[in-house]
Amino acid sequence: MTNPAIVGFSGNFTRPSKTRGFVDHIVTEIAGRYGLAASTHDIVDLGPSLGTAKGARDLDEPARAILERILAADVLVVGSPTYKGSYTGLFKHFFDLVDPAALRGKPVLLAATGGGDRHALIVEHQLRPLFGFFEAFALPTAVYASEKDFVDGVLASEVIRARVGLAVDDVGVALFGRQRARIAAE
Ligand SMILES: Cc1cc2nc3c(=O)[nH]c(=O)nc-3n(C[C@H](O)[C@H](O)[C@H](O)COP(=O)(O)O)c2cc1C
Repeated sequence: MTNPAIVGFSGNFTRPSKTRGFVDHIVTEIAGRYGLAASTHDIVDLGPSLGTAKGARDLDEPARAILERILAADVLVVGSPTYKGSYTGLFKHFFDLVDPAALRGKPVLLAATGGGDRHALIVEHQLRPLFGFFEAFALPTAVYASEKDFVDGVLASEVIRARVGLAVDDVGVALFGRQRARIAAE
């Protein structure tokens, strides 16, 4: 049996990106704790076919491969920079191409970054309803980081790192149940 796979997807379309770095940090923590195969992607990786795609069939080969990896993942970490109080338009457009039943029951860890703390509830008021639409298993601990939490694009805040740790606990419970997750955390 192959290891379960964790896939990160970030809604940034410029680089360098704090959001991509944040999502990748979370993915790496989860992969390290539970021994999962890991990869992280963003809108930049999807390339130009995303913008004109009216359905998943219109994506070019590299973009479709990323979509398929996301759909096949055992756990997802999704994140977006906050744009005008919500996720980026291209993040939403990408998920508009996903079949409504394709994420049903999949554990999804919600993450976002923003310029300040004022829009920290984007994870609850924007991301959670979107993944509620998909009937995904959105994990209870969502994580948000703002500009001040990064130094040179790297997550530096101990408070946010600790919260990421709680979210990583949620992933273990979703994948293996409470008892095995507790053992993995020790
Ligand atoms: C068009 C645009 C809109 C933005 N709107 C918000 C906003 O509503 N609230 C907020 O906290 N930050 C906002 N920001 C700041 C970004 O969310 C923040 O800098 C984010 O961490 C950038 O992530 P990145 O480094 O991955 O691109 C906005 C930035 C841009 C470019």
